[in-house]
Amino acid sequence: MVKLEIKKYGDSVLRKKSDLVQKISKDIKRLVEDMLETMYAARGLGLAAPQVGVLLRVCVIDVDPGKKSPLIMINPKVISGGDKISEQEGCLSLPELFALVKRFSNIVAEYTDLEGKNKKIEADGLLARAIQHEIDHLDAKIFIDYLPDWKKKNIEKEIKRRKKKGDW
Ligand code: CO
Repeated sequence: MVKLEIKKYGDSVLRKKSDLVQKISKDIKRLVEDMLETMYAARGLGLAAPQVGVLLRVCVIDVDPGKKSPLIMINPKVISGGDKISEQEGCLSLPELFALVKRFSNIVAEYTDLEGKNKKIEADGLLARAIQHEIDHLDAKIFIDYLPDWKKKNIEKEIKRRKKKGDW
């Protein structure tokens, strides 16, 4: 397993849509292993392939990294959602920046697992939020896109400041 470089906000790859995975090849399996290694090393709850520079619809999630029981999703899709709720959210591509984001509090999602089987999952709480956040990455969307303009601008200003310091 190899720890990959996590692309930070401002990298153009995060603004490109990911392609469907056609076949669970050896390369896909290796990518998943490396993404898990990378996510756990960074202590993240989730990681999507574009965040490591790969434009394929693959993400890994573990809302309880202590347990190391990852959910590996290939071609994930939210098929229904309940009420919306605002909760604090962050992203490995925007380290140490958090904001309230409104999302479905519970969802049903479909995906393909690493064995190529079609799966359906009902999720709520942090897991529901993480799945929606990671799928957004596959669609080139980042959580601060949901914020009001002034708030997004504040965060972008902070990022600029950090870039100047070489801390981004
Ligand atoms: Co993210």
